[in-house]
Amino acid sequence: MDTSKLMFRDGLMKDERILITGGGTGLGKEMAEGFLKLGAEVHICGRRGGVCEETAAELIEKHGGKVVPHACDIRVAEAITDMNDEIWSKHGALTGLMNNAAGNFISRTEDLSIRGFDAISNIVFRGSFYMTHDIGKRWIDQKRKGSVCSILTTWVWNGGPFVVPSAMSKAAVNTMTQSLAVEWGRYGLRFNAIAPGPFPTKGAWARLSPDSGTSSMERSTANPMGRVGEMHELVNLAVLLMAPGAEYINGQTIAIDGGMYNASGGNFSALAAWSDEQWTAAREAIEGANAEDKAKRTV
Ligand code: HXC
Ligand code: NAP
Repeated sequence: MDTSKLMFRDGLMKDERILITGGGTGLGKEMAEGFLKLGAEVHICGRRGGVCEETAAELIEKHGGKVVPHACDIRVAEAITDMNDEIWSKHGALTGLMNNAAGNFISRTEDLSIRGFDAISNIVFRGSFYMTHDIGKRWIDQKRKGSVCSILTTWVWNGGPFVVPSAMSKAAVNTMTQSLAVEWGRYGLRFNAIAPGPFPTKGAWARLSPDSGTSSMERSTANPMGRVGEMHELVNLAVLLMAPGAEYINGQTIAIDGGMYNASGGNFSALAAWSDEQWTAAREAIEGANAEDKAKRTV
């Protein structure tokens, strides 16, 4: 990311300590860089501990400051508690949580196995709740303020054909956002979400646009602005929601998609035209990407 495009003043986030799930790669890494640049202490977690360590070292070398990597599988509630115990005891209380980790792949729903459904919903639906619940309870017990922001998609409003487990799970996290904004607002906790349109990342493109061209994510041609998102645009919105200054924003899910959702629904409905051969090739490519990432997992 070109950090000169950050809209905010240096030091704005100097009193923030923020955990970004899935912060070792993609959008999570970009947000980690932005928060760090603005003075926050940043914690990142993922199953590939080595990837998080490399990201932390890279960002510290670039900007100085403190980025702490954690190997943690957010599908495992006890692992979340252990990581948060460590953060609280070694570093201090978090002030914010970005629920950014996710799993996804395009598939005809009739081709999905139960394990395939669980692979996605256990990360997005359960993992986001486990993390929010563990951290929210600490904030309530300790009478601290806190901010949670979840990275969703515009499918929470109109459904996600060919990504049904993701669409169902993200919609549930949208409902969590609205519900806890009201239930826990009285404790000084707030809950918001971002619904990005296409922002190219290796992880998403490998699983959502495996033919690297005609399909899915590349349909940014259907975008009113004729382009995909730029990372600083997403990061500026995340800062607005996580930094001090606009705390009255609570219970909102904000799209950042160039207007794509309004123009074209922003989902994968066009994949209804794919042939069996295209689905077979897509699955092989996705499973190759999955295997490559899995080989690097340390938890
Ligand atoms: C059908 C598939 C499949 C595919 C995997 N499966 N790929 N089924 N089509 N293309 C099935 C497998 O066959 C298996 O079921 C089951 O899913 C579990 O597979 P595992 O590889 O064992 O899963 P696991 O190790 O738990 O990995 C989870 C994962 C993987 C979700 C499958 O992709 C992952 O770790 N992803 C993390 C990164 C990621 O997805 N990033 C993209 C985020 S983008 P069987 O029954 O055969 O055993 C995003 C939205 C972007 O979220 C929005 C854009 C607008
Ligand atoms: P990505 O790079 O693949 O990011 C996903 C991250 O989640 C990875 O770092 C992964 O790390 C982590 N993760 C997955 N399962 C985990 C688990 N069980 N425990 C801990 N961490 C886990 O893809 P991305 O594009 O940046 O996606 C980031 C977020 O943006 C996701 O919520 C996605 O749905 C959302 N989003 C992306 C786009 C886009 O265009 N890129 C659009 C809309 C929404 P490990 O594999 O090491 O665990």
